[in-house]
Amino acid sequence: MNYERQKKTPLLTAIKKYVETNPTPFDVPGHKMGRISTDLTDCLGNEIFKYDVNAPLGIDNLYKGTGVIYEAEALMAEAFKADKSIFLINGTTSGIMMMIMGCLNPNEKIILPRNVHKSAINGLIVSGAIPIFVEPDYDNDLGIANGVRLETYIQAMDENPDCKALFVINPTYYGVCSDLKTLVEEAHKRDVIVMADEAHGAHMVFNDKLPLSAMEAGCDISSLSLHKTCGSLTQSSALLIKGDRVDYNRIRKAYTMFGSTSPSHILLSSLDATRKLLALKGKSILNNTIKLTEYAIHKLNKIDGISVLDQNYCSKDNSSRYAFDLTRLVIRVDGLNKSGFEIYKEMRKNYNIQLELAETNIVLAILAIGSTKEDVDKLINAFKDLSSKYFNAYKRRRIPKLEYHFGEITISPRQAYYSENKLIPFYASEGEISSEMVMIYPPGIPILIPGEKISKDVINLYKFYLKSKGTIMQDSEVGMIKVVK
Ligand SMILES: Cc1ncc(COP(=O)(O)O)c(C=O)c1O
Repeated sequence: MNYERQKKTPLLTAIKKYVETNPTPFDVPGHKMGRISTDLTDCLGNEIFKYDVNAPLGIDNLYKGTGVIYEAEALMAEAFKADKSIFLINGTTSGIMMMIMGCLNPNEKIILPRNVHKSAINGLIVSGAIPIFVEPDYDNDLGIANGVRLETYIQAMDENPDCKALFVINPTYYGVCSDLKTLVEEAHKRDVIVMADEAHGAHMVFNDKLPLSAMEAGCDISSLSLHKTCGSLTQSSALLIKGDRVDYNRIRKAYTMFGSTSPSHILLSSLDATRKLLALKGKSILNNTIKLTEYAIHKLNKIDGISVLDQNYCSKDNSSRYAFDLTRLVIRVDGLNKSGFEIYKEMRKNYNIQLELAETNIVLAILAIGSTKEDVDKLINAFKDLSSKYFNAYKRRRIPKLEYHFGEITISPRQAYYSENKLIPFYASEGEISSEMVMIYPPGIPILIPGEKISKDVINLYKFYLKSKGTIMQDSEVGMIKVVK
C-alpha cells in the first residue's frame, strides 16, 4: 500500500473546496446549503448542510466516476486489498443485491447459507437466480447459527456442477468465520464465483490478529458495511472486486438500477475519510480495540452467571467455526436465569446501555474503533450489578433452547413472489407455500422466504419470537401470512 497516496481524500477535499468558494446555490437540494431553520438544524447546526451538495461541477458522478469519486474508489480498493471498489450509499443491503444481480442471469444457480440476510433473498427475487440452500452449523445451546462446513459447500458444488456462484458470510453476526481460503480454492477449481457478505467484517483487513478478509482469502467480490465497524456514517458501504471472474461493468449497471440519482455526498465523503484513517492507522487502532475486547472478556468471565465467547470458540480443525473476530462480545446470559431479550431491555432501561442484539441465551455487544475503556467498564459494572440481582436469586429457570428448522424450498423465490396469493392466519399455514418473507430483526435473518413450504417448526419459531416480543418484519400484518394460491 502506498501510504503517501492514502493520505489523500479526493472527494472530501473537492467538496470542502467547493464549500469554501461560498457558491450561490440555484441547484438542489432545497435547503440551499443550510439557509433554513428546522428542528433538525437546531440539533445539528447549519454547517453540515453546506456539505450536503447534489451534483455541482467538479464533484464527479457516483455511477460513472472519472474524477474525484473514481480516485477515492481506487484508494479504497488499494486499502482493502482489492482491484476495484464501488462506493455504496444504501448499505451492504444494496451491495448484496448488486452482487447477485450483477453475477447471475435468471435460472442460474447460486449456493447460499440458509441464514443469509434478507437482501440476498431480495437479490434472488430480482435476478431470478435459483438458490441452492446449504445449512450452516447451528449451536443450539447458544441459539446461534455459525458458518457452513467446507464439506457441505463442496457437496453442494459437486451436486450442482452448473452452479455459477457461491455466497459466504464473513464473519457471521456473532463474529464466526469459516475456512474461507480453502473454500475459495475449491470453488475456483470448479470455476464458481465466490461472493461475500462482509457487513460485519469491514475492519478485518487492517489487523492480522483478525480473521482473513474476503479479498485476502481470494474471493471475487464482497460487500462490506464500513458504517458498522469502521466509523463511516450509517448506510455507507462498499463493494470490492478482485480478479476478472466478475464483470465489473455489469455490477456497475446493476448499481444504476438501485442507486438514487441524488446520492448523499456526506455519506460518500465519510467513506473517503474513514478509508484514510484506517489505511494509515487501522492496525494500531484495532490493536487497541482488540486489547479492549480481551480486557472485557477477562473481566466479564469472572462474573457469576455470564460467560463470553473468545477465540477458543473457533479452531483450525473446524471449517465452519474456523476463526473468530475478536471485536465482538457474544455474552451468554442464561446463567442469570434471564433470557437475552430480557437482559437487552434491562440494559437500556436501567443502565442506559444500548446493546446490538439479543437472542434467547445471549446478547451481543460490538466493540469498534470508537469504543472506549470507560464504555467497556460501564458494561462490566452493569453485568456485575445484574449478576448480584439475578444469579442464584431465583430458582433456576429453564430457558427454552432455540432450534432453527427451516422449510423446504419448493418453487423459486421469484416465482413465489409473483404468484397469486391468499392471506391466511400464520398458525393455520402448515403445508402451504409462503409467498412472502418473514424476518426477525435483529439479526435480520428470514425464518421464511418466498417459495418455502411452511412447516410446524417454522410456525413454532414464529410463535416463539412473537412471545419474546422481537420485531417481526413481513408484508402482511403480524399473525397473518400470504401463501401461494
Ligand atoms: C449479515 C448481514 N448482512 C447484511 C446486512 C446489511 O447491511 P447494511 O445494514 O449495511 O445494509 C446486515 C445488517 O445488519 C447483516 O447483519
